[in-house]
Amino acid sequence: MPQQHIEKSPTIDVVRAARLALLGGEAVHRVGPPHYPVFSDLARERVDALLREGDSVGLSKQHPLIEEAESALAKWHGVRQCLGTSTGHAALHSAVIGLELGEGDEVITTPYTWGVPCAAILHNNAMPIFADIDPVTGNLNPVAVEGCITERTRAIMVVHVYGQPADLTRLREIADRHKIALIEDGSTAHGARHQGRLVGTFGDASGFSCMGTKLLATTESGFMLTPHDNVYYNAVISSQHAGNNDKPGRSSEPGFPESLRPYADSLLYTYRLSTINAVLLVEQLKKLEAENAMRAENRNRLVELLAGVASVSTPQTRPGDYTTYWMLCFNFDADAAGISKDTYLKALQAEGVPVINYMPTPLHKLDRLSSTTRAPRVMWTESMRRALAGGGQLGENLPGCEEKVRRGFEMMFHYVTPAEKTMQSIANAFCKVEEQLPALRDFERSSRRTGVA
Ligand SMILES: Cc1ncc(COP(=O)(O)O)c(C=O)c1O
Repeated sequence: MPQQHIEKSPTIDVVRAARLALLGGEAVHRVGPPHYPVFSDLARERVDALLREGDSVGLSKQHPLIEEAESALAKWHGVRQCLGTSTGHAALHSAVIGLELGEGDEVITTPYTWGVPCAAILHNNAMPIFADIDPVTGNLNPVAVEGCITERTRAIMVVHVYGQPADLTRLREIADRHKIALIEDGSTAHGARHQGRLVGTFGDASGFSCMGTKLLATTESGFMLTPHDNVYYNAVISSQHAGNNDKPGRSSEPGFPESLRPYADSLLYTYRLSTINAVLLVEQLKKLEAENAMRAENRNRLVELLAGVASVSTPQTRPGDYTTYWMLCFNFDADAAGISKDTYLKALQAEGVPVINYMPTPLHKLDRLSSTTRAPRVMWTESMRRALAGGGQLGENLPGCEEKVRRGFEMMFHYVTPAEKTMQSIANAFCKVEEQLPALRDFERSSRRTGVA
């Protein structure tokens, strides 16, 4: 009988010892990132029904789909008011508007984030003041926040970076002691918890993005939460279709205050939540916890497999907190590796690992926030013009932030189903790069000699 040829898969040792893909070898991890977001059959059926015969114009809670989404989010968070919005920016701007922060007011915030929370402050003509961060987690450092408080400070805007809750106990305590507001940006941390309590529930207002890459993903949408009726209704008359007695809109919602009725007009930012995204919010919320738990399981397995990789570390979650892994963040140790972060990332990317440098420039280094910028001054507000009149840059002397930017790199983490093989293959790529650091050091040296960075 002819012998059947069985092709053996190479052992882990062989995989890791093979020539690096950056240097012409074969990539270890050849599977692309998972398809995301995944909508349930029910979500797709409900959107289909809405498009076939539904009333697609959702101006207020009087539309059953807007009411369903806002109630579901308010109830799940245990917060009194929820306002659905068109984007995360709209939610954060609505929070700033709702708290009446504006000209002459300072809001302490983080330089280490996507720029939108900072833009939301500027868009209401208030001033963002950058406080330093913890170089390991990337979250605001409460001591630095307190050091930035002046008589003009009216609020703190905190971001839960990459899904890891900031120190909300201390930030809430600082806000209360100084009688200023706390705003949370939970855009990358849906379902994360600080000491057992959901993020977004500690603030006087909070904003969440629900665009298509987020943990609670729709197409484009967001929502604002607040325990305060006045914040909700201020946002309502400024950012939503307010309507009036005989016109549909937010002013016909039960509870709309009589004192604001004269101002329920059409001077608005139009930040409405669409009915399609209202359906998606409701249906996506049903699976958020299970998906977050699966992400955490996959993340924990990957971190276990990376135990021997000395060049990188991952931040630890504070005891009692729960991180939701929108992105996995790593800190790179260039001294231990003997190569630059850039080369390390190129080597991992060549092996097929989708790592990125998500935050190459912190907000305080952005050209558009400097007095010498030649960019169109479309973001410039009167408050910023005055702050930069003497020259310089918004924000300086932020060593924690600079260290984090220097060391950090990230990986989008949409592994919401069991992914043992994928985690193993990603870990193999890391281990291969780690074991072959000497070849990368040679590569860097010869690149320097030939002038190819
Ligand atoms: C931390 C943070 N805040 C706010 C936003 C803005 O959300 P959107 O794009 O929905 O306006 C984002 C978007 O990625 C974000 O990462």
